[in-house]
Amino acid sequence: MSKRNTIIYPGSFDPPTNGHLDLIGRAAALFDDVIVAVLKHDGKQALFSVDERIKMLREAASHLPNARIESFDGLLVDYARKQDARLILRGIRAVSDYEYELQMALMNRKLSPNIETVFMLPSEAYSYLSSRLVKEVWGLGGDIHDLVPETVERRLKQKRGNS
Ligand code: PNS
Repeated sequence: MSKRNTIIYPGSFDPPTNGHLDLIGRAAALFDDVIVAVLKHDGKQALFSVDERIKMLREAASHLPNARIESFDGLLVDYARKQDARLILRGIRAVSDYEYELQMALMNRKLSPNIETVFMLPSEAYSYLSSRLVKEVWGLGGDIHDLVPETVERRLKQKRGNS
């Protein structure tokens, strides 16, 4: 067992939101190492490439020395094992998140009983926030300034400029 408390925060992060960054900050204050793990292939049509998402997360979390941004493929529990991590972090915003998160956590426990899922709450200011809604609001020309880190807003604007 690793002596350092390493926690993996997996997700799509397409794009990273202020809610994600809030959670990364909270985790970085509690655990020795936080690995933010961007899923490489989830079959969904993504707005940002995995490399872009990694760059945005690295820029937005650059003030957190114990947060590392990586990508992963395959089973999350296999990735966690390779990283010598026994903890998985997921955020729960509202009761509506719970069922999906419970299913995933219990499936991961079934696959790897010694890996625990830890749930944390982002700031209530972000409890309505999701990557999907950010993309929708941005796609319809709405203001996403308070919803995403500056690097994400900049890249979204670039995408609009290029389209
Ligand atoms: O941000 P998301 O899209 O809700 O994150 C979902 C994620 C990446 C955590 C989940 O899809 C995942 O862990 N995928 C890896 C494949 C896997 O391990 N599946 C079985 C566990 S349910």
